[in-house]
Amino acid sequence: MKNIMVLGGTGFVGAHVCEKLVRQGFNVTVPTRRRRNAQRIQHLPSVTVLELDVHNAAALTQAAVGHDAVVNLVAILHGTPAAFDKVHVTLPQALARACAANGIERVVHISALGADDQRPGTAPSEYLRSKGRGEAIWLHPAQSAPALDVTVLRPSVIFGAEDKFLNLFAKLQAVFPVMPLACAGAKFQPVWVEDVADAVVRCLVRPVAGHAAQALPCIIEACGPDVFTLKQLVQLAARLAGVNEGRGRPVLALPAALGRLQAWMMELAPGEPLMSRDNLDSMRVDNVSGGQLPGLGTLGIRPGALEPMAAQYLRSGQSNQGLLGLRNRAR
Ligand SMILES: NC(=O)c1ccc[n+]([C@@H]2O[C@H](COP(=O)([O-])OP(=O)(O)OC[C@H]3O[C@@H](n4cnc5c(N)ncnc54)[C@H](OP(=O)(O)O)[C@@H]3O)[C@@H](O)[C@H]2O)c1
Repeated sequence: MKNIMVLGGTGFVGAHVCEKLVRQGFNVTVPTRRRRNAQRIQHLPSVTVLELDVHNAAALTQAAVGHDAVVNLVAILHGTPAAFDKVHVTLPQALARACAANGIERVVHISALGADDQRPGTAPSEYLRSKGRGEAIWLHPAQSAPALDVTVLRPSVIFGAEDKFLNLFAKLQAVFPVMPLACAGAKFQPVWVEDVADAVVRCLVRPVAGHAAQALPCIIEACGPDVFTLKQLVQLAARLAGVNEGRGRPVLALPAALGRLQAWMMELAPGEPLMSRDNLDSMRVDNVSGGQLPGLGTLGIRPGALEPMAAQYLRSGQSNQGLLGLRNRAR
């Protein structure tokens, strides 16, 4: 296996996946809707950035020619039901056909903790319901479809130098004197971006322990070692970033109705919303491992703890590590 196509390779997790694949000697192709979105990865050796409309099935099939495996990291966090369906369901459908047309058997698909391939409709939000339907494309293909060797990764919330999660909490508290917070008690099991990227690469380079080389489709939960409430994460972000001399701001847990109103107002604001009502719906179910499915340990990964990693980047606000940090180090 030599040539890997990484959809979503320009994103937060995708850039780390590309870096690791490059380090392992793979040739990596990254389709992107806009070349300028690929700034973080275009300097990586053996990465080819392809500007194309990934929703154009014919273009996607053409882009997949000559590849041995595909990684799909494309997703959106906000949108209409139709937009979620287009990105999380229709795109994987087209990708599965592109794989079949090109004889590509190995696929790693990144989903999300809380998605359910068996009963997608039971998930609490449109994001998670569409993620579940997207998983089902790979895990329950039509009998006539060619057999693919698929691994679905389901991460909890992912932290790392470029995350839009701890960084956002720290920035908001640097500006506002109090933090009004919806779903303050929702639980998460944050996982380090490097561990998720490692998992993707290990899924590609070797069969998952306990499965034969031509592994049956399987699901792996990608979670960190510790569980936090949202309120604890907000407080930790401020402390690690040194906001208000490390004391952070008072966190005001909002009752459900006020939280919904806040999210609705954020949806009305211009640009990408900080929070949507669908995000709140996702948090109705704790984002922690159910303990029934294999975790990162299956891949030989001992997930890193949040505090020491986050402390490194929350103070400086940027990553200077590895090949991806080259641009920052050069400044
Ligand atoms: N970050 C987290 O905390 C978290 C938690 C759980 C699961 N996940 C999952 O992990 C995967 C990677 O997440 P991430 O945080 O790295 O995402 P991200 O930074 O938002 O990147 C998403 C990628 O999707 C592409 N994309 C976005 N909107 C698109 C659209 N409408 N049509 C086509 N392509 C589009 C973008 O590519 P171009 O702009 O180059 O076209 C981008 O590279 C996703 O499947 C996500 O659901 C993430």
